[in-house]
Amino acid sequence: MPKNGKLAVEFLNKVLAEGARIPPEDMMFSYKGVLFPAAVCNPGTLQALESFEARTDDIILAGYPKTGTNWLDHIINNLENTAAKYTEEEMKKITDLEKELEVAMRLEFGDPDKFKRMKKLPSRRIIITHLSPHLLPTSVFKNKAKILVLIRNPKDTLVSYFHFKNKVGFFPPSGWDDYFTSFMDGKVGWGSYFDYVAEWDKYTDDENIIAISYEELKENPNVGLKEIAQFLGFSLSEEEIQSVVEKSTFTAMKEKASETHGTFGDILFRKGSVGDWKSMFSESQNKEMDGRFEECLSRTKLGAKIKYDVYCKA
Ligand code: A3P
Repeated sequence: MPKNGKLAVEFLNKVLAEGARIPPEDMMFSYKGVLFPAAVCNPGTLQALESFEARTDDIILAGYPKTGTNWLDHIINNLENTAAKYTEEEMKKITDLEKELEVAMRLEFGDPDKFKRMKKLPSRRIIITHLSPHLLPTSVFKNKAKILVLIRNPKDTLVSYFHFKNKVGFFPPSGWDDYFTSFMDGKVGWGSYFDYVAEWDKYTDDENIIAISYEELKENPNVGLKEIAQFLGFSLSEEEIQSVVEKSTFTAMKEKASETHGTFGDILFRKGSVGDWKSMFSESQNKEMDGRFEECLSRTKLGAKIKYDVYCKA
């Protein structure tokens, strides 16, 4: 969400320009004990979201910030567009409607009235969010929307978040050591990574929910895309899957970044690799993260899917 690339670029360019002008002390606000960046979220929208009515055929992509949500968004939109076989005219109608409705990039971004406007969007709506389950509207679970929970190993997530927040200019500035501490304490946008994964873990047995790992998707995109297509009920040929795989590589997406994400694209498509944490973590930080993962997530199903020993041990 949205399919309308121009709309996303306009929204992102505006956020980058205006967000940098917010004084550092006002850059974050707390809602129900969780921090959010004021450049893209506001308490009124988070409150209004509680009465948002999800549809059974909605596709919800839930991912903690920097776990590859733009990547999976691109994949799902491409799979949906390919499966639906929209004519050019139909596609134009959808993108025009999105433009008219000004639907922001993430469920929790933008103004509180957007949820009324979202009612006018045709099915299937692809909805992206960084929110934990307890901050999502209950209708998402009650109406059995299909949910894809995206996870990425905590070390690469933290490194990606650190570089991102320093470049976008709408998070309070901090050095690596301070940011490491903030992340470990959950004092970052959208709250604690550990709480986020532990909370979603309670939903993993639900038949409407599937967990996707960044690292697995990177290692074997063809298998990952087939799994996603099957879960969402998209019927696609081998060639169609392969074509989406090719359009979704880091290089292919980075090449089109200015078209799809404007200036923000330079910041977003940074490395797209697994193991970049090795360039940043000190020995004591590795030890602290290893201990925290063991304590909070090692005995969970999502924790097992993260394959911590494979991706997070030196
Ligand atoms: P890095 O900062 O480690 O490079 P999000 O979209 O949730 O903000 O996540 C951003 C991360 O996903 C960035 O990680 C970005 O490079 C990575 N990413 C974006 N597109 C990707 C792709 N096609 N393949 C792999 N990683 C991708």
